[in-house]
Amino acid sequence: MADTMKAARIHKYGKSGVLEVENCERPKPGPDEILVKVHTASLNPRDWLTMRGIYQMRRVVEPFPITLGSDFAGEVAELGGNVTGFAVGDLVCAMQPLRGKFGAFAEYVKVKASVAAKLLDGISSADAAAMPCAGMTSYQTLHDVAKVHPGEVVLVNGASGGVGVYAVQIAKAMGAKVVAVCGPNNMAFCQEMGADEVINYREDDFASREDAYDVVYDVIGRSSPKAVKKALKSGGRYITTIPGPGTAFAALTSYLLGFVWPFKRKSTHLILVKPYPHNLQAMMQLILDGKMKTIVDGHYALDDIEQAVARSQTWRARGKIIIDVS
Ligand SMILES: NC(=O)c1ccc[n+]([C@@H]2O[C@H](COP(=O)([O-])OP(=O)(O)OC[C@H]3O[C@@H](n4cnc5c(N)ncnc54)[C@H](OP(=O)(O)O)[C@@H]3O)[C@@H](O)[C@H]2O)c1
Repeated sequence: MADTMKAARIHKYGKSGVLEVENCERPKPGPDEILVKVHTASLNPRDWLTMRGIYQMRRVVEPFPITLGSDFAGEVAELGGNVTGFAVGDLVCAMQPLRGKFGAFAEYVKVKASVAAKLLDGISSADAAAMPCAGMTSYQTLHDVAKVHPGEVVLVNGASGGVGVYAVQIAKAMGAKVVAVCGPNNMAFCQEMGADEVINYREDDFASREDAYDVVYDVIGRSSPKAVKKALKSGGRYITTIPGPGTAFAALTSYLLGFVWPFKRKSTHLILVKPYPHNLQAMMQLILDGKMKTIVDGHYALDDIEQAVARSQTWRARGKIIIDVS
């Protein structure tokens, strides 16, 4: 194994033109980490938000240069001294924890062994690299926060994007009736994914309906708890992925209210994805059972990472953007 590798790194924050694919030192795994030879990675908005410096706190834990990339799949190349349960050559995938280093847009990445999942037989590298951040966000929202019951009506706003495509399919697999909200070009696509009803956000405001949904999952953060309240049924749950001050306050208030009013009520939640390998395994099983498909917007080589970032920054991606590394 060479001591150097190719990686997509930034040396300063910026909107574009700051990402460089260059040679650098190969990382060495710490005692609780594994080193993975990356086969495939996938892009999430968090990667270019970091590039722009919006996750400024990262600079405290990780000085420049920063190798971007949160999600990846590949082959274990080296084990830290404390690691058990993995062997060199195992195929794995993972999402880097938010507080950890990123590093997946590179030929090698190190990651805590506790957040990595072994690939199930029949799962492709693209399936495994696509799902970590986007898939786990939707899996945790629908299973752990909303606790969706069969027959409930689940609305997904932003249904055609990276997080949304998993939300629609996971909600269907849980037996929900799914209402997908997307732009005009993605209506047929959302229907093909299994949505029972599709709303074109350019023509119809899903929040103007009354008593319509058990769960509103706003993947893209274009609504607010206040605007959606009357559209929720009694006991309805509003969940957003976007941690703005308004939604964070509403979610905290809703959480505290649960202690003094433990009865059926409408609630607000903010999801912050966590790196749970058992979620990755459960989603791999959904794929193997034919209940979920990986939706790929496009494949890019590591050398073309700038183009992949530019595509994601349009907010028009349909499904996941894949980076083919080796
Ligand atoms: N809190 C967390 O832990 C967490 C985890 C993961 C992601 N996120 C956040 O979740 C957001 C979505 O991520 P993503 O990966 O799904 O992004 P993405 O793939 O880039 O989203 C693109 C999709 O957004 C849709 N869209 C754009 N404007 C819309 C609108 N006004 N209404 C409805 N849909 C619209 C587009 O559909 P059309 O082309 O049909 O308009 C497109 O399919 C990001 O802000 C990300 O940072 C948060």
